[in-house]
Amino acid sequence: MEKIVKLHDKEFRTLIPEAEIDRAVSELADKLNADYRDRPTPLILGVLNGAFMFASDLVKKLDFNPELSFVKLSSYCGTGSTGKVSELIGLKNNLEGRHIIVLEDIVDTGESMEHLLKSLEGHRPASVEIATLFFKPRAFRKDFAVKYRALEIGNEFIVGYGLDYNELGRNFRDVYVAVG
Ligand code: IMP
Ligand code: MG
Repeated sequence: MEKIVKLHDKEFRTLIPEAEIDRAVSELADKLNADYRDRPTPLILGVLNGAFMFASDLVKKLDFNPELSFVKLSSYCGTGSTGKVSELIGLKNNLEGRHIIVLEDIVDTGESMEHLLKSLEGHRPASVEIATLFFKPRAFRKDFAVKYRALEIGNEFIVGYGLDYNELGRNFRDVYVAVG
């Protein structure tokens, strides 16, 4: 059922219900299970804050044993990308020779992910792939591969299931889109 919520100055309406998100996360987990089952202990790196809920639900659906860690990187202010990317923090694991799966809530322009990939490359991992809950193909302007995408959307601004509008809306089970 469609619902309207207000966060700060904006109204949002239901776009993707919980059940559809859950289905997409399961499909993505199946692909990771097929690709990583036989590799030596993959390292899952969740990107905070946005990927916390996605990471939590996804790892419960994996049938291999990954290490799980989180990093933080933020480039967003309000509903438009600032283009400025801050430092990557929280990287504690030794990444050399590791198979890394980066978990993101959303890849929009790809700016912040590009920055993260560059930081990771310096640590000489065996492989790095990106698994994102949402992908905006029309906003993406980079040339790295985003191999695992649970859901693709247009250029609309969304909140819920980890994603925020100025820090609100992350706790919603469904995903909402800005109205107007
Ligand atoms: P990019 O650097 O332009 O790819 O933006 C990536 C970051 O911007 C994501 O990790 C999100 O935190 C944020 N972001 C991009 N699009 C949205 C959106 O529609 N809703 C909420 N946050 C978004
Ligand atoms: Mg954000």
